[in-house]
Amino acid sequence: MTKKRISIFASGGGSNAERFFEFFQNDQDIEIVSLFTNNKSAGVIERAKRFNIPYHIYNRNYWQNGEVIIDLLKSQKVDYIVLAGFMLLIPDELVSAYPDKIFNIHPALLPKFGGKGMYGMNVHKAVKEAREATSGITIHYVNEHYDEGQIISQVSCPIELSDTVEEIAKKVLALEHKNYPKVIAEVVRKSI
Ligand code: GRF
Repeated sequence: MTKKRISIFASGGGSNAERFFEFFQNDQDIEIVSLFTNNKSAGVIERAKRFNIPYHIYNRNYWQNGEVIIDLLKSQKVDYIVLAGFMLLIPDELVSAYPDKIFNIHPALLPKFGGKGMYGMNVHKAVKEAREATSGITIHYVNEHYDEGQIISQVSCPIELSDTVEEIAKKVLALEHKNYPKVIAEVVRKSI
């Protein structure tokens, strides 16, 4: 049986991406075949090098209609795409080329704290300001509307009123690392 092939898209430090590189290193059913980034100085590139994952850097222009990227994904026979801190909008053409095959993680419990401007520390700041008792992660499919694709899994953690924004971010990131590769493995394995 041929393995299912995943490409990771990331723009930043890439701690989640690294969890995927590690998690699927010796997997019988699934492999990580490439990394795409829009940011030539992203920390994730060093991580990909360490794991011998081929990487591709394409600036913003290439993400307008995604044509070059779609061709490359198809030539690599990529089955699924995992967004791990990818900061650009995925073009509609790419969403149509990979229907229900693109996953994202959002560092809060959607539909709360999602949508425009809700990324990175902005999310955790908003959670703190709203004096929420819980936050967490949402793993979801990507459709044409940001943060609105069907939810696959949510995991929550308690937030204390005394938690700083950084402490909230740390708790949520730990949940991401623990759950993101595991949940994607379950979804992909179901399709085999
Ligand atoms: C994570 O919080 C993820 O939810 C968000 O961006 C952050 C990426 O962190 N979308 P890293 O680059 O994986 O370390």
